[in-house]
Amino acid sequence: MTSLSVGVVGCGYWGPNLVRNFRNAAHCQVKTLCDLNEDRLRHMRQLYPEVNGVTDYTELLGDQGVDAVVVAAPVKYHFPLAQAALTAGKHVMIEKPMAASVAECEELVELAEKNGLILMVGHTFLYSAAVRKIGEIIRSGEIGDIRYINARRLNLGLFQKDINVAWDLAPHDISIILHLLGEYPGTVNCQGNAHVTPGIEDVTNMSLAFGKDRFATIQSSWLEPRKVREMTIVGTKGMIIYDDLQAQQAIRVYDVRVDRPPHYDTFGDFQYSYHYGDSHIPYLRQEEPLKTECQHFIDCIRSGNTPVTDGRQGLELVRILEASSQSLRSNGAPVALNRPAIPVPVTSAGPAVSSRADLINGSVAPAQLIPV
Ligand SMILES: NC(=O)c1ccc[n+]([C@@H]2O[C@H](COP(=O)([O-])OP(=O)(O)OC[C@H]3O[C@@H](n4cnc5c(N)ncnc54)[C@H](O)[C@@H]3O)[C@@H](O)[C@H]2O)c1
Repeated sequence: MTSLSVGVVGCGYWGPNLVRNFRNAAHCQVKTLCDLNEDRLRHMRQLYPEVNGVTDYTELLGDQGVDAVVVAAPVKYHFPLAQAALTAGKHVMIEKPMAASVAECEELVELAEKNGLILMVGHTFLYSAAVRKIGEIIRSGEIGDIRYINARRLNLGLFQKDINVAWDLAPHDISIILHLLGEYPGTVNCQGNAHVTPGIEDVTNMSLAFGKDRFATIQSSWLEPRKVREMTIVGTKGMIIYDDLQAQQAIRVYDVRVDRPPHYDTFGDFQYSYHYGDSHIPYLRQEEPLKTECQHFIDCIRSGNTPVTDGRQGLELVRILEASSQSLRSNGAPVALNRPAIPVPVTSAGPAVSSRADLINGSVAPAQLIPV
């Protein structure tokens, strides 16, 4: 197959990052950009005069020369735009979260499978060197069994009009947490408040309960003076702090733990044993995760391999978000989920993610898929 032609729909805040990365991807050219907003198209034409710019999406879909469509419009448009593209025979990559409901995601997965097309979701962090390295450290046993994970993704804005902050920011943390624990949650709780836009929560606290008493908490906020992108992973033998704003020093591994004596006779005998050891900062290859993600989409179309973050992964993540909304409506009551019969993707620590099939075959080392 020669070079693939890509169309990008939605050129607001995020779309231009996708356009830049697809333009630089191997075996790929960006042929057409689509946005309802003429000003955005004018801006993109100034940057890339050789690329077509259209406001009419049917023009993009009618172009037989366009092989794949990348959807970077607001979430409520993901489903109609992706459905139309899959119906027109185009491979599709959709930004996170995949769509506005489980029903919409299911329909897209079915349509892609029926038409033999690649459907991928932009769970960008699974393509980041930091997340892959944390997965590698956990699988090496260095920090023991995971006890819990706490994630905080806070900033002032960017306020969204069609989704709450959990749907906007938590997909990143959920995708990372599922990947690190290798499991889907059994229950979801979520509490939050809409302080600025009525009905759209701008601060949420979600918790996900997993097997073996493991749990994860995710705090998401558009109402915070500082930008925070932090995750603490607490294991039985050590802990990791992942600060995504620290680039080269994004991960610090701590040799700290606390043990409880197995048994004691009196309260006077009782003593926790605290262990304080060294901490270290693993080396991380500096590569834009979005670059790896975009190349992965192109590679999967060319090879026919299933993307690491395929439509089914997008669907399972939206199932968790939908449960979080249900829990929000009942003031944080737990919502039970049936664990799906598909594995959580575990990506390799290597420079580029190949495909889920390659991961299973072991051609990308050290790779494994942990079944649910
Ligand atoms: N992976 C990431 O890290 C990441 C980061 C930011 C945003 N996103 C995702 O990217 C998507 C877009 O977010 P954004 O912040 O760029 O939004 P945005 O509002 O800044 O931009 C959306 C653009 O889509 C255009 N648009 C809307 N409806 C359209 C339609 N029917 N046809 C064509 N164009 C249309 C708008 O005119 C606008 O220019 C969202 O799904 C968001 O969650 C992902």
